[in-house]
Amino acid sequence: MIGQPRAPAGIGLPRSHSRRIDSTNRAARDLAARGAPHGTLVTTDEQSAGRGRSQRPWVAPAGSSVLMSLVLRELGEGGGLLPLTAAVAVADVLDPWVGDVSIKWPNDVWISGRKTAGILVEGRPQEDWAVLGIGLNVSTAAEELPPELRDTATSVAAAGGGAHRIEEVLGPLLTALDRRLGQKPAEVLAAWRERDALHGSAVSWDEGEGVAAGVDDSGALLVDTAGGRVTLDAGEVHLSRIV
Ligand code: BTN
Repeated sequence: MIGQPRAPAGIGLPRSHSRRIDSTNRAARDLAARGAPHGTLVTTDEQSAGRGRSQRPWVAPAGSSVLMSLVLRELGEGGGLLPLTAAVAVADVLDPWVGDVSIKWPNDVWISGRKTAGILVEGRPQEDWAVLGIGLNVSTAAEELPPELRDTATSVAAAGGGAHRIEEVLGPLLTALDRRLGQKPAEVLAAWRERDALHGSAVSWDEGEGVAAGVDDSGALLVDTAGGRVTLDAGEVHLSRIV
């Protein structure tokens, strides 16, 4: 463990940083299961088995990205909104550097329609903890992105947001997370809705298609279909925008 605070935040300590690890989410889950306190942070320069949503891998060149996982224990009424809250915090950090920052439900952060950050929340509600994992592409060059993602992904630098050291992004990100986690659900939802990338767009998922119509107060996606309005839970569907 290393103990230098990166930001004036109530989260981020104790911190465990490694040059290379399989997955910061895996490590943070293990720490949480062993009783690590609220705010414990795991970071790395590189992951050998980074995990994304829906069992997909998360790949980032060494030293190019914020790769972090937080153990969170005191989530209170906003716990169910954690994925959306984290996306808003990432967007807060990107705002000064780039324009056109939006969020694709539930928590992909886009710059000009390209994914720049992914968020993976895992947890043991019965043991009262969650792990919040964030991968944020900071300095990844366009040609370093996996070929299959070059049309749909970007980084802060590739999007024209300038050069930033990973540690200089991590501090503001922890501060933004701390602030957003302390807000009431209504405030977080209002900020999320201002950045809703899908609102009014045609979307499809395994069992249907329709037009995205925002989120309800639980963070579930509302979709207007030919058969009426349906509500999609983030844990259950993989959603695509029909372009
Ligand atoms: C997604 O968009 O599919 C979520 C990606 C989450 C990736 C981050 S990188 C840090 C943390 N450790 C992991 O193994 N995954 C998350």
